[in-house]
Amino acid sequence: MKHFFLIAGLVATSVVAQAEVVKIELPVETAVYKSGPGADLANAQCLTCHSADYILMQPPMPAKFWKGAVDKMIGKYAAPIPTNSVDALVEYFAKNYGTETNTPSNTVVTQVITQPSGALDGEAVATKMGCFNCHAEDKKIGPAYKAVAAKYKGNKEGPEKIAHQITHGGSGQWGTVPMPQFDSLSAAEIKAVSDWILAQ
Ligand code: HEC
Ligand code: HEC
Repeated sequence: MKHFFLIAGLVATSVVAQAEVVKIELPVETAVYKSGPGADLANAQCLTCHSADYILMQPPMPAKFWKGAVDKMIGKYAAPIPTNSVDALVEYFAKNYGTETNTPSNTVVTQVITQPSGALDGEAVATKMGCFNCHAEDKKIGPAYKAVAAKYKGNKEGPEKIAHQITHGGSGQWGTVPMPQFDSLSAAEIKAVSDWILAQ
């Protein structure tokens, strides 16, 4: 019961904070990760096996706890989290769900979301963002990109619809599982990913 009240309170807060950007209104999947630097990483790496409720169930915990949690997901449950994302994930959770909410440094996170320079490779951007954690032939949480390309073949609105899906997330087109939003991609990155998806 103790947990129930804690979750109810936190979910309510999180829904209010996100109300303007997240238009997902499903009865079960009410919990989303707080937006901000590092949220895209959490969305890509920490929603593939369980909902954000698993995080909301925890009382505010220090970075050490989150490091342990991320390591456990990798070591015990074989979560395919890139080693170079671990620090940024720990920092994100410690900052947003931690006891150290006022730590000034976010250098690690900044490093991870820094835009690459030069010509953009859509597949590389999708890899970097963790899109394949849900969009791969053998994952089937989201549709395979071939299926998305087939859906929008010859449809001029394809790029716009895909851009909207990336920046807003949502569900209902392929099933009931919602896609989280990814709001740290630049317009150029979105275009590169969209072009690459449509070419599958
Ligand atoms: C490969 C699947 C997988 C991924 C990816 C994953 N988890 Fe988990 N997680 C689990 C499983 C399995 C449990 C235990 C479920 C249970 O006991 O009911 C769990 C439980 C948890 C718990 C509850 C406490 C505990 O230790 O059991 C937390 C907190 C948690 N995960 C955080 C995360 C975070 C943060 C991420 C992203 C960095 C993440 N998880 C990604 C599989 C995953
Ligand atoms: C946590 C899982 C998850 C991650 C990570 C994820 N997606 Fe999705 N995606 C989904 C789900 C689920 C759907 C189906 C939503 C629906 O039914 O409307 C989807 C749908 C889509 C679609 C189809 C939209 C349409 O109009 O039919 C595109 C395109 C897409 N995702 C692109 C991306 C890109 C690009 C990324 C990385 C930046 C990404 N996704 C990351 C789960 C995910």
